[in-house]
Amino acid sequence: MQDLEAEKKLVAVEALKLIKDGMSVGLGTGSTVKYFLEGLAALVQDGLEITGIPTSRQTEQVARKLGIPLDLDINHVDVDVDGTDAFDLHGTLIKGGGGALFREKVVAYNSSYVVIIADSTKLRQDFHGETLIPVEILPFGKNMTVRNLERLGCNVALRHEGKFITDGGNIIADCTFAGVDDPGILEKKMKAIPGVIEAGIFNGIANLLIFAKDKSIARMTF
Ligand code: A5P
Repeated sequence: MQDLEAEKKLVAVEALKLIKDGMSVGLGTGSTVKYFLEGLAALVQDGLEITGIPTSRQTEQVARKLGIPLDLDINHVDVDVDGTDAFDLHGTLIKGGGGALFREKVVAYNSSYVVIIADSTKLRQDFHGETLIPVEILPFGKNMTVRNLERLGCNVALRHEGKFITDGGNIIADCTFAGVDDPGILEKKMKAIPGVIEAGIFNGIANLLIFAKDKSIARMTF
């Protein structure tokens, strides 16, 4: 039986090996990154000097409690470590299961090196089968934005009937497609809709994927 918690810890510990003195570090969000934060805090206690930039209020709270130094107004991120809901063999990610996709993308986009850590359930050959893509949208005009998203060929459900509010004060439209042929093109089409703040497709952003596979660690670089 898979021990997903053990897998999450394993990949998080592997990512910690990339963190060096003086780095600014993007701190992702989610249940895998939680182990990275715990490990990072232990290294900080032992004298490692880093500055973290959290990708969500949730991560900010945890990092503060753990004593990780933070700077919310950083100019540049050396390495970003984040989780993902799914990834394919091209390193395209689907993110936003926790609703933090907007800040996560801002931090990842501005990072020199993006490391994604994932348990063994996240790898997909492609996104040709049913694929759920979270999209952050503005509350204003949400019915029109939902209609425009539906025109891209998906079923849309507003998360918690529109009551899930992101750190940016927006809402999440969970878009389910029967299959996605080209995630890069879909990302562009989504972002062209007024009212869409950010799409949960991270295309061409990850540099290194560290993931659990067959009880050990696998890597893909891009
Ligand atoms: C947050 O919105 C998501 O993008 C998370 O980064 C992602 O869901 C992480 O998944 P795990 O909780 O499985 O690490």
